[in-house]
Amino acid sequence: MTFKEQILVGIPNELPPHKPFDHNSNHAPKRKEILTKEEKKLAIHNALRYFDSKHHPVLAPEFAEELKKYGRVYMHRFRPDYKIHARPIEEYPHQSKQAAAIMMMAQNNLDDAVAQHPHELITYGGNGAVFQNWAQYLLTMQYLANMTDEQTLHMYSGHPMGLFPSGKEAPRVVVTNGMMIPNYSQPDDWEKFNALGVTQYGQMTAGSFMYIGPQGIVHGTTITLLNAGRKVSKNGEGLEGKLFVTAGLGGMSGAQPKAGNIAGCVSVTAEVNPFAANKRHEQGWVDEIIDDIDLLVERVRAAKATKEVVSIAYQGNVVDVWEKFDQENIYIDLGSDQTSLHNPWAGGYYPVGMSFEEANEMMANEPDKFKEAVQETLRKHADAVNRHAAKGTYFFDYGNAFLLEASRAGADIMADNGLDFKYPSYVQDIMGPMCFDYGFGPFRWVCASGKPEDLAKTDSIASEVLEEIMKASPTEIQQQMADNIQWIKAAGENKMVVGSQARILYADAEGRIKIAEAFNKAIAKGEVGPIVLGRDHHDVSGTDSPYRETSNIYDGSRFTADMAIHNVIGDSFRGATWVSIHNGGGVGWGEVINGGFGMLLDGTSEADKRLKNMLLYDVNNGISRRSWARNDEAIFAIKREMERTPDLKVTLPNIADSNLIDELF
Ligand SMILES: NC(=O)c1ccc[n+]([C@@H]2O[C@H](COP(=O)([O-])OP(=O)(O)OC[C@H]3O[C@@H](n4cnc5c(N)ncnc54)[C@H](O)[C@@H]3O)[C@@H](O)[C@H]2O)c1
Repeated sequence: MTFKEQILVGIPNELPPHKPFDHNSNHAPKRKEILTKEEKKLAIHNALRYFDSKHHPVLAPEFAEELKKYGRVYMHRFRPDYKIHARPIEEYPHQSKQAAAIMMMAQNNLDDAVAQHPHELITYGGNGAVFQNWAQYLLTMQYLANMTDEQTLHMYSGHPMGLFPSGKEAPRVVVTNGMMIPNYSQPDDWEKFNALGVTQYGQMTAGSFMYIGPQGIVHGTTITLLNAGRKVSKNGEGLEGKLFVTAGLGGMSGAQPKAGNIAGCVSVTAEVNPFAANKRHEQGWVDEIIDDIDLLVERVRAAKATKEVVSIAYQGNVVDVWEKFDQENIYIDLGSDQTSLHNPWAGGYYPVGMSFEEANEMMANEPDKFKEAVQETLRKHADAVNRHAAKGTYFFDYGNAFLLEASRAGADIMADNGLDFKYPSYVQDIMGPMCFDYGFGPFRWVCASGKPEDLAKTDSIASEVLEEIMKASPTEIQQQMADNIQWIKAAGENKMVVGSQARILYADAEGRIKIAEAFNKAIAKGEVGPIVLGRDHHDVSGTDSPYRETSNIYDGSRFTADMAIHNVIGDSFRGATWVSIHNGGGVGWGEVINGGFGMLLDGTSEADKRLKNMLLYDVNNGISRRSWARNDEAIFAIKREMERTPDLKVTLPNIADSNLIDELF
């Protein structure tokens, strides 16, 4: 059968052969046993819903075995034999070009070269799922292949509920992931309801089909590092010869060494999982791997002395690096961490003093002991960071819940006031005031033709547009514009494409709209094929997350999630091709609500209208909320936008004099 025919089959009538466990793939850790006997029965009932009852006698014991072995029912037998990757959209069977674009984006998230645990349908972050099982994948692809531009597919945490009649202007797909009744959002609720097969952790761009490999975060990490470098620069010098220490070479964290090289420093990234370290090394994301801590010390000393720009992976636990560099008096200029602490008990963070295998075994068989070991490691980790910070290291939380989990573990991480952490989140110090409040965020696009030449053309279109805009940009955003132009000019040379032909570029509303308009014109002229626009959920408006995206909101509203909900609703009727809203992503289940969109540009005048209408709202929703929270930069940005867009009328805050209020209490 051809690829197209296989997609159209959906869930096959006859059972495909049983698939042996593939030891060459990077698999998700066994999830902890959480279901009662009755709940296990329910999980198998739930799984069997996808199949004709004639297959139940074979599948019931097989799924029960998967549940026992892996803690989840993935339905491995149904994983397709064809290669899953982003194909040019014409290769997908389709009635709707928009649906074909979504198929391409979903397949990219499951590509072996892109996904962290492809067989378990996990794209990144250890638990960032595209689907819960292979039946959902097969059924979704079949629906997408058959749907028209007058229907909408509604998806509940990976499960395609069905096609509903809608209209041309409606989104083709509406995605929700992990949406829970608020009181059922504790980490163990995820374990339980995911094991039952009724919800999933969609991360940000995994369950929303918008992941573009580690490139997606290289740009943000580069901006963060460059600006962190500006903070520690005493005489205006750059990052030459300066040392950045961090951890994690996984889905997103794998971007750190690349960003270190682009920013021009020496970087050491610790990674406990040899699979992950080797994958990033083979893909050219990190220059060298060292697994001996003494050799690491020597290598770092030499690199610092000669101001070499180099990225080094240390294969081992990051706590060993922080402690050893303290003993050896190696000065760390910048420090952070990108282990998956949003998921601390299920493989996101590995305890020190034991091998990777020992830790995995303890996690599955002695979860309480594992939890203790993680918390003890966090305390040691924080102590070592504190010793370096006392010598002058600038440490920042990089949005992985390090400070939050360290505080919960009782680590010495709280500020003197007992309320704040000792260290800032990168959004409080850098990303919030310098980017989000002005509307700059991780805009992205994917060339649906799959042609690298199309990507190169879009890079030059985007760079021309930004250079033109910069001529009239106010001084407040000149630095951002310059950094982004420099980024897009070097993007091709930095060879960051893994999977689909995608590009990320921080831009504000004006930049996003003008770039998208220029793309749509180029498509109409036949200069490039269709293009999918999107963004990370980690953006100006898409995410309410009190310890990350909205950590620089100080009016008390950072614990609300109205902004993210308005955003997804607002985008959906302004022309998005698909929209998504998730509980969990980045910092953890129950800790964040985040949403995003995808939009296909096909060169038509309808696409031109949609992009203007939707992108304007997609950015300015967040700026208006940030402005209402009295953030100066956002007040500046929204006033400027209202001058440009007469139909935009936003409520502005009046600023009260603190002296007037302070004397009242
Ligand atoms: N700041 C941002 O913009 C941003 C963006 C995306 C993700 N994140 C967050 O960053 C974290 C990492 O994301 P990811 O996709 O790379 O996750 P991941 O799970 O793919 O990678 C994390 C890596 O850390 C390694 N690790 C765990 N404990 C370790 C230890 N003690 N020492 C050394 N290595 C260790 C793991 O083996 C894993 O490979 C997540 O919490 C994610 O939510 C932040």
